[in-house]
Amino acid sequence: TNPDNTYRTSYHFQPPKNWMNDPNGPMMYKGIYHLFYQYNPYGADWGNIVWAHSTSVDFVNWTPRAPAIFPDQPGDINGCWSGSTTILPGYKPAILYTGIDPQKSQVQNLAVPKNLSDPLLIEWVKSPYNPLMAPTNLNQINASSFRDPTTSWLGPDKTWRVIIGSKRHRRGLAILYRSKDFVHWVKAKHPLHSAKDTGMWECPDFFPVSSQGGLDTNTVGLGIKHVLKLSLDDTKHDYYTVGMYNLDKDRYVPDKGSVDNDTGLRYDYGKFYASKTFYDSAKKRRILWGWINESLPQPEYVKQGWSGIQAIPRSIWLDKSEKQLVQWPIMEIEKLRGNRVDMPSSVLKGGSMLEISSVTAAQADVEISFGEIELEKAELMDPSWTNPQLLCSRKATSVKGGLGPFGLKVLASKDLKEYTAVFFRIFKGHNKYVVLMCSDQSRSSLNHNTDKTTYGAFVEVDPTNEQLSLRSLIDHSIVESFGGGGKACITARVYPTLAIGNWAHLYAFNYGSGSVRISKLSAWSMKKALIN
Ligand code: FRU
Repeated sequence: TNPDNTYRTSYHFQPPKNWMNDPNGPMMYKGIYHLFYQYNPYGADWGNIVWAHSTSVDFVNWTPRAPAIFPDQPGDINGCWSGSTTILPGYKPAILYTGIDPQKSQVQNLAVPKNLSDPLLIEWVKSPYNPLMAPTNLNQINASSFRDPTTSWLGPDKTWRVIIGSKRHRRGLAILYRSKDFVHWVKAKHPLHSAKDTGMWECPDFFPVSSQGGLDTNTVGLGIKHVLKLSLDDTKHDYYTVGMYNLDKDRYVPDKGSVDNDTGLRYDYGKFYASKTFYDSAKKRRILWGWINESLPQPEYVKQGWSGIQAIPRSIWLDKSEKQLVQWPIMEIEKLRGNRVDMPSSVLKGGSMLEISSVTAAQADVEISFGEIELEKAELMDPSWTNPQLLCSRKATSVKGGLGPFGLKVLASKDLKEYTAVFFRIFKGHNKYVVLMCSDQSRSSLNHNTDKTTYGAFVEVDPTNEQLSLRSLIDHSIVESFGGGGKACITARVYPTLAIGNWAHLYAFNYGSGSVRISKLSAWSMKKALIN
């Protein structure tokens, strides 16, 4: 049967049909971008997992290729799960991935290109030494919690290192292995890092960062910060910390104040999971891919015939404060910007709304900045408000505040029976203003079955001397929002029933009592990309 395409996106990555989850082994090789992903060739439900493969020359349009890795040997006969690519000396890519063996144990396997002169890397061959890493009684590894190898990094001692996600009881582990030849791997005595009470660490990612641009994964050295990202199976969110990698001890130590549990920093405070970065040596930047999981219940996405989307790839770098990362959609996506609408700078009074017309509101890119914020109207911040998501759900769009909510209503029906609201509220804290960013899905759809959880994040912006900016990428059933120039990101998956296609509208609004000035507002109709 043909999939139902009502909610398919126009410029986000997705296969023509069926189930997709994690992005796998992204890389740039000989000028071509590669993306592999967890895919079910037989249906819109998770299962029968292979590594599907697509390539792109411009990072916008994608061509499907044959699945690169599929179950065909004992080490992966029950599934080819997530993993990463590493580019070995001599410009030779290699894939490490998790295979599910005949006993349903999770083991790590190697695959290399059959023909290195084919830049599309269509065919991959599996190592005769597979599996290279396996749970045994001796190494005490839990056979059902041992998966998702990272991109490997080469130390100054000419030794490769890789980490594998795991857990022991409730303690999350980044198990470390070392190798001289990429084939024979020896488990290190200590994990690279671990933390109590987090549950399983899926899809770890470990890489060096700087505020000047991307760094090659092998970069180590004095003063270089690293990031460790974990996908927590328990909460289905991606958390990261910034910290130091101690090469002598092969241990990662998160910075003080950078916590790795439910209160830690997240790449995205909405739907964004099992993400992975790679270093793009052509443009000297680090790129982040992440999976946006469904908000339809399982029977409905199965009926729809497809499920799962990849977020627009993001450039990521270390913020000047060195306390957090900043993310921004890759600049290539701006090639899809078509008809542009600019609004003259104007004051948006409390209680007002402004339609942004003449753009295709269901397929758009919007950038708005707020200045001249009437800060004296800010309500006092209650010190107990430590959870931004909870704060956003208590103070939904309709709750009038001193400063805010002000922002965008996207994928809105004309009568506002449906909309997704992305907005800010500003509070007066102890010795600074606190900026809250919310994405309120509670009115996003008249379909009662979709997940309409409200999301929230604090944005480290000082409104006394900075403009407060918001960018939203709207694509039929996706709203990806970047607050404060990418200091806080929230991705929502919505299924409007009225605000579909040409029936969708876009508004700027301010329901607070204080006024704000829209200092900049540009919106673009987005063209359709050729995706798979
Ligand atoms: C994360 C994950 C990985 C696993 C893969 C299986 O979403 O559960 O841990 O390798 O998906 O498809």
